[in-house]
Formats: sequence, C-alpha cells, structure tokens
Amino acid sequence: MKSLAITANFIEANVEALAIVIFKGEKSPTDQLSALDKITGGLVSAVLAGDEFNGEEGETAYLHFLPSGKVKARRILLVGGGDRNDFNLPAVSRAAGTAVRFLRKNKIRSFALDPRLTEPAAAIAEAAVQGFITGQFELDKYRTKDIDKKPKPVETFGLFVAGAKPAEIKAGLERGQIIGESMNFTRDLANEPPNILTPTEMANRASKMAKECGLKCEILDEARMKKLGMGSLLSVSRGSEQPAKLIVLKYTPAKAKSAKSEVLGFVGKGITFDTGGISLKPSEGMDAMKYDMSGGAAVIGAMRAIALLKPNVPVIGVVAAVENMPDGNASRPSDVVTAMNGKTIEILNTDAEGRLILADAVAYAEKQGATRIIDLATLTGAVVVALGDQYTGVMGNDQEFIDEVISCGREAGESIWQLPVGKEYSKMIRSDIADIKNIGPRGKAGTIMGAVFIQEFVEKAKWAHLDIAGTAWLDNPKPYQAKGPTAVGVWTLVKFTERFK
Ligand code: BES
Ligand code: ZN
Ligand code: ZN
Repeated sequence: MKSLAITANFIEANVEALAIVIFKGEKSPTDQLSALDKITGGLVSAVLAGDEFNGEEGETAYLHFLPSGKVKARRILLVGGGDRNDFNLPAVSRAAGTAVRFLRKNKIRSFALDPRLTEPAAAIAEAAVQGFITGQFELDKYRTKDIDKKPKPVETFGLFVAGAKPAEIKAGLERGQIIGESMNFTRDLANEPPNILTPTEMANRASKMAKECGLKCEILDEARMKKLGMGSLLSVSRGSEQPAKLIVLKYTPAKAKSAKSEVLGFVGKGITFDTGGISLKPSEGMDAMKYDMSGGAAVIGAMRAIALLKPNVPVIGVVAAVENMPDGNASRPSDVVTAMNGKTIEILNTDAEGRLILADAVAYAEKQGATRIIDLATLTGAVVVALGDQYTGVMGNDQEFIDEVISCGREAGESIWQLPVGKEYSKMIRSDIADIKNIGPRGKAGTIMGAVFIQEFVEKAKWAHLDIAGTAWLDNPKPYQAKGPTAVGVWTLVKFTERFK
C-alpha cells in the first residue's frame, strides 16, 4: 500500500479518481468543489442541484469526465458525509471506507480524498487511512473459486488537507496504517475457523507477531497455569482435546517510567470455540461461537499497534485462549473449583465460561503489576438484547476510569454505554456452598452478572469490563465495512495508551 500527502492542487493529484465529501443540504459547489465543478464542465453543480444524491452518510455519486489540463483523474466520487455539524474524525474514517469499497468495485487502483474537515491534519490522516485499510478487509479468505471476481485492492491512497504541512499528514498516515493493519490482523484472527485457530494456534500467531513487532511474549501452558492455581480457567479447557494457553504480551516504553507509573493491563477472552460445554448450546447458530475469541483477538491486535506506535506507558496484554467442549472429562454443572486468588466458584452453567477464564486472567494481569485493567469479552447474549450491535457495554469499579474508556471509544468511533454494578448485584452471585457461583438468577441482569463475577478477581487495580458480544461481529455489511469481525476495542485500547504522554 502506498499513501500520498497532498497539500496543494488536489485536482492534479496523480491518481485515477478524486473522492470528496459532500454534506447534507449542500446545493451548490464551494471551495474544492468549485474546482471540481470547473474541470467536469458543471457536472458537480448538476448533481448537487438534483435530488438523487443528498449528501446522506453512506450515499455516493460517481462522475466520469473528459481530460482537462493537468488533471490526471478521470473520475470523481462524491461521498455523503451527513450533517456537517456531526462530521468528525470517525466519520472521516467511514467516508474513506465507503470510498475505497465503492472505487475498488469500479476497478480503480488509486484515489485521493478530500474529507473537508478542519481538525489537526495528522488526526485526519490517521482516521482516513485507517478507514481506507479496514474498508478493504473481506472475510472470504478460504474461498478458492471465483477469486477472479473478487475486486482487486486499491493500492494508492492520497489524502488532501488544505494548508497542512506534508510532514504532519505523513505522520498521521503512518499511524493510521499501523492502526488499520492491526485491526485487520484482529479481524483475521476472529474470522478463522475454530479447527484452524485452536488455543495453540492463537498462541503461535501472537508469538510470531510479537517477534516481528518487538514485544516480549510468554505462553503459559496448562502445567504452568496449574502451578499458579488457575483452577477456574483450567476447568473450562478440561472437556477439550486442545490444551489451554495463556498468552502474555509485554510492551515496555523506551522512557523508563510514565509520569504516573501506571501499568496498563489489557485482558481478552479467547474462547476459540464455545459449545457451551455440558450446558450445551442449541445447534442453531452455534457456528457463530467461533468469534468467542474476539476479545482476545482485540488485545493481540492492540498490542501489535502499541508495539509499533510506542506510547509512553507499559502495557501487559493477557489472553486466555481456551476451547469450551463437552467430553467425559468436562466440568459439570455443580462442580466447585478454586481460582488463582483462592476464591471458590460453584459452576452452575458451563456455558458461562468466559467469566471463568477471565477470573484467572485478570488476577494474573494484576499480579504482573497492572494498575489499570481493561478486559474485553464476548461475554453475554444479554448485552446483545440490551444494546444490540450499536454499543459495547462497559462496567467497572472506578467511575473516572470508566469515563475515560468511554471517551477513548468516542474518539475511535466505537460507542460504549455504561451499565451499573454494585453490592446488590454482587449478592446475586453468592453461592450456597462456595464463595460465588458463575451465574445469577435466570433472566436477571445477565450482563451485569458477568461483570460482578469478574470484579471478584480484581484486587486494587482500576478495572473496566467491555462486553463486546454485540459489537464484535457485523451481520450485514455497511458501505464502509464488510460483514464479519469488526475488531471492536482495538482502537479504543490504542487511544487509551496515548493518554499517557
Ligand atoms: N459466548 C457466550 C456469549 C455470547 C452470546 C456471545 C451470543 C456472542 C453472542 C457466553 O459464553 C455465554 O454462553 N453466555 C451465556 C451466559 C449464561 C449461561 C449465564 C449467555 O449469555 O447465554
Ligand atoms: Zn458460553
Ligand atoms: Zn463464550
């Protein structure tokens, strides 16, 4: 992939097509649009004046025009940006995604975009190229037939920001490329079938990435985990032929310590397939449970980006990679197990396995020195009922920390909505025979039950839990994004690390 920083003469960019954002209600050309109008002999004016294209987000209008002076492009793509007042950096990313998906289908190999937003040029570039790269991801990796019908990728992306310094744009383009590629790395993991992406394979991919990007990586096997007392995590993998792996990735910044000497801990649920175990799931829709490792995949992708972006804060990534299967050795509903922190757990539903593996993974992250922990997990069907695929649910033990996570999400275009936790909820998972049980009362506050369970394994750290069951997978494609894995969480985590200067 090649990216170009364009600061003057947008219309003369050395590309096949020029894409430009149009806002709702724009009826006649201004600024760059006037130049485009001129080279097309008034086509832009005509489209704006008509009522087929209204500048709504996701809309596009494609114009062909004849050679004109120094202009190399022969196509213009008008990309709807929606309300001008709501048009922000995440919207730039979506506009770039929409443009690349449209132009790719039309056999274009290079284009330049003018997002018409006044924000720092580096931030615009970062968002735009992220959208350009994630917009090109497809989930048909294993298709061998009809590959000639697959659109070829757009290779060159030019970004125009009026009056910006080329170096500023370039810096943003580089950062955005790292973020976009890391998100696609996460999506590729989440998209892998579970016979290929076993816990061992997930660990192999993480350690290969770590080597390439300069992260420390340690893979804990079951024997190590047993020694550490991770009876909760290990209870989930008992029924599987595939041994569990605890993936530990460490990033240390060049400067010895961040000002606040915080250590971030990102913890991911990596259930490579969730059958439910002995509390077996119904077969209909069970195939979706290959993406039950999306939280883990997000942590690995975020660690990749962090390794390359080098923020000034130490980060530990912990991914519990486990397969949840039923066999003669599997955990039974009513089993009691002991977690690493000594707490005893009555397992009443083996399908509530995510919290069981996170219990030990979160405790491990804190033991390794994490002072602020964010865990990501496709934890509950209940969060899909509550928030659909629009918002990730967040719960935690420190309001300021939660607010920060939500605001990082907003910057990244990843919407997050808080749900409550508290003593009254924690009471609901008290067990008759052990310290806690892994489910609450049927049909009550399912998402919160997951959170208050994990909370039992956090000691002093500030902690936020993101339930991404609804947001990690897109059932229907969007103009800027293929259906399938979304890599939700990656950019939010990256944004969070950048708050440490
Ligand atoms: N992996 C599922 C949650 C899930 C459901 C993710 C739908 C994505 C889409 C999780 O392990 C699970 O099975 N949770 C149970 C918990 C229940 C038994 C308390 C659920 O949500 O039904
Ligand atoms: Zn489950
Ligand atoms: Zn699960």
